[in-house]
Amino acid sequence: MCGIVGAYLRAQPCLRSLVRGLRVLEYRGYDSVGVGVIQDGAIVVRRKAGRIEELERALADGALDDAAIGIGHSRWATHGPPTDQNAHPHRDWLGRIALVHNGIIENYQELRVELERRAIPLRSQTDTEVLAHWVGIELESSGGDLAEAVRRALSRVRGYYAIAVLSGGERPQLVASREGPPLCVAILPDAAWLASDPLALIEHTRDVVFLEDGDVAELAPGKLVVRRLDGSVVTRASHHLDYDAEAADRGGFAHYMLKEVHEQPDVVSRALFGRVDEERGDVRFEEELLSDATLRAVTRVQINACGTALHAGMVARYLIEGLAGVPVDVDYASEFRYRRPVVVPGTLALGISQSGETADTLAALRLARELGCRQLALCNAVGSTMVRASEATILLRAGPEIGVASTKAFEAMLVASVLFAVRLARARGKLSSAEGRALLGELSQLRIGLEHMLTREVVAGIRALAERFTQARGFLYLGRGINFPIALEGALKLKEISYKHAEGYPAGEMKHGPIAMIDPDLTTVVIASKDSVASKVRSNIEQIRARGGPVICVGDDPESLEVADERIVVPSVSPWLSPLLNVVPLQLFAYYVALARGCDIDKPRNLAKSVTVE
Ligand code: F6R
Repeated sequence: MCGIVGAYLRAQPCLRSLVRGLRVLEYRGYDSVGVGVIQDGAIVVRRKAGRIEELERALADGALDDAAIGIGHSRWATHGPPTDQNAHPHRDWLGRIALVHNGIIENYQELRVELERRAIPLRSQTDTEVLAHWVGIELESSGGDLAEAVRRALSRVRGYYAIAVLSGGERPQLVASREGPPLCVAILPDAAWLASDPLALIEHTRDVVFLEDGDVAELAPGKLVVRRLDGSVVTRASHHLDYDAEAADRGGFAHYMLKEVHEQPDVVSRALFGRVDEERGDVRFEEELLSDATLRAVTRVQINACGTALHAGMVARYLIEGLAGVPVDVDYASEFRYRRPVVVPGTLALGISQSGETADTLAALRLARELGCRQLALCNAVGSTMVRASEATILLRAGPEIGVASTKAFEAMLVASVLFAVRLARARGKLSSAEGRALLGELSQLRIGLEHMLTREVVAGIRALAERFTQARGFLYLGRGINFPIALEGALKLKEISYKHAEGYPAGEMKHGPIAMIDPDLTTVVIASKDSVASKVRSNIEQIRARGGPVICVGDDPESLEVADERIVVPSVSPWLSPLLNVVPLQLFAYYVALARGCDIDKPRNLAKSVTVE
C-alpha cells in the first residue's frame, strides 16, 4: 500500500529520481504523496493529498532541484484522512529530522500522551508524526547520531513498520529500518538508494540488500552499516534481481492488466521451466520439504491466503485431494488467524501470495508455524517477507505484476498448485508415472490453448460480448467442482475493476437462494467444462433460462454451450487443468466491461496492490 523511496547522492540532484521512484510504486495504491530533502543543511518538506501530479505542481518552482539527499512517500491513509497535513514526511517539532513510514505504530496513543506531557505540539492525526518526535527526542541524547536515535526510539515502539529517516545539519544522515513491511537498499560508489519495493530501484541497479526485521541501516554513497536494535553490527547479503526494466512498463498495451493477461502463456512456460521430469512423470523441486520422505509424512494441508490467491488455494484443494488423496482445509487467512484452529500433527501449512507481504497471510503462516506445521509458500516476490519466513517456497516466476487486479500471478499460482499436487501424489504413490507424464505433458502444451484464447479474433468476440452486457443490473457467476473457484474469481475480477455487482456461487447452491434474483436484468456467467458434473451444470443453465435470465456459457462442454444464450468456447483440456484456461475469458470480460464503463482499470478505487496492514 504505502511506498517509500530514498536517495543519498554524491553531488547529483535526487528529486527527479525520488519522484520517478514514487511513480513506479503508484501501482500499490495511495491517496497522498510527499518528499523531504536536505537543502543547504536544512530539511524541507513538500506534501500533497491526491496524486503525484499534485506533488509535481508543488515542486515546479525548482527550489529543491539541487538537493542531493531526500526521502519520498506515497501514503494510503490509516490514521487520519488523506490531507496535506497527514501526508508524509513528518518532521520532529524542531524540524531537525524528517521521517516516512509504512505500517502502523500500535502504541502511538501512549507515546502521544507522553509527547503532550512534554508540551511537544502535534500537527497531524498520524501515528507517524509521533514517531518522528520520538526520534527527535532521542537525537538529543544520542549526540546527533541519527542511527542511534532511531534505534532508541524504535525500542519504545510496538508495531509493524518500515521507515526512512533523514537528518540535516553539517553531517546529513539517512537511516532506514523495518519490522514487518519490506525495505531494501542499494549501495553504489556515488549513491545510496532505498525503497519499499525493489521495483523502484531497478533503474539504478539490480543488486539490492533486503533488510531483516529489527535492522537499522545507515546509508551513504559507498557505505552501508546495519545494526540490530541493541547496537550489534550485522552483515546482510546482496541479492541480484533478474527483473528487467521493460517488464515493468506497459509494452504497448492500454493497461498493465491487459498486458499481464496477455503474458500468461509465457508465465506458464516460465513457471514450468526446469521443473518437469518427463521421464518419471514427476516434478523436480530442490527443497527438502518437497522430497518424497517429507511429503509422505504430510497428513493434511492447511491453505491460507486472501482474495485472488485464496481462489487459487481453493483450486489447489481440488487438485491435492483429487490427485494425492490428502485432506485439505482452505481458509481466509484473516479468519484462520483469529479463530482457534485445530491443527493435526503432520499438517503442512501452504501460504499463497503474489506479493508475499499480505499482513493476514503472513500472520496465518506464523500462527501455523507456532501450531507446529511445516510451512511452504507459493509466492511471486523473491526476497519478500513470506519467502524469507517460510521453510520452502515454490516461486511463481510470473514477473512483476503491476495491475492491481491480479491475473498472471493467479495463473502462475494455478500452475504451481498443479506441480505441487503432482509432486505430492507421486511421492505418496497415488499417481503412476504414466498418469503424471500425461498430466504434465498437457500442462506443458497449455500455452497453445492460452494463445488461442488471446488471439485477436477471440478477444474481439469477448469484447463485443462485454460491451453488450455492460448495462446488466448485476452478474451471477456459477461453476461446479474445480471450476467453482473460477466462478468466484470471475466475479471478483468484475467487481474490483468495473464496480458492477457480481457474485460467485457453486452452481449447485443456486436453488438455495440466488435463483430468486434471476430476471432479464441479471446476467449469469456459467463455467461449463466437459467433466463429471457437466450434465448438472447444463441443467442449471436450463433452469436460469426458463426464468428469463440471460446466460453466457464459458467452457468446452458442447451441450452446455448449446443451450446458453451466448458462449465463449474454450479449448478442451483435462478437467484438472480447465481452470487455467477458463479464467482467461473471465479476466478479459471483466477488463472490457470496465473499459466500456470508463473505469481506472489499473488503479481501481479504494484498492491497494499489496495489503500490508489489516
Ligand atoms: C484481486 C487481488 C487481491 C489479492 C489479495 C492477496 O485481484 O489482487 O484480492 O489477490 O489482496 O494478495 P497477495 O496475493 O499479494 O497476498
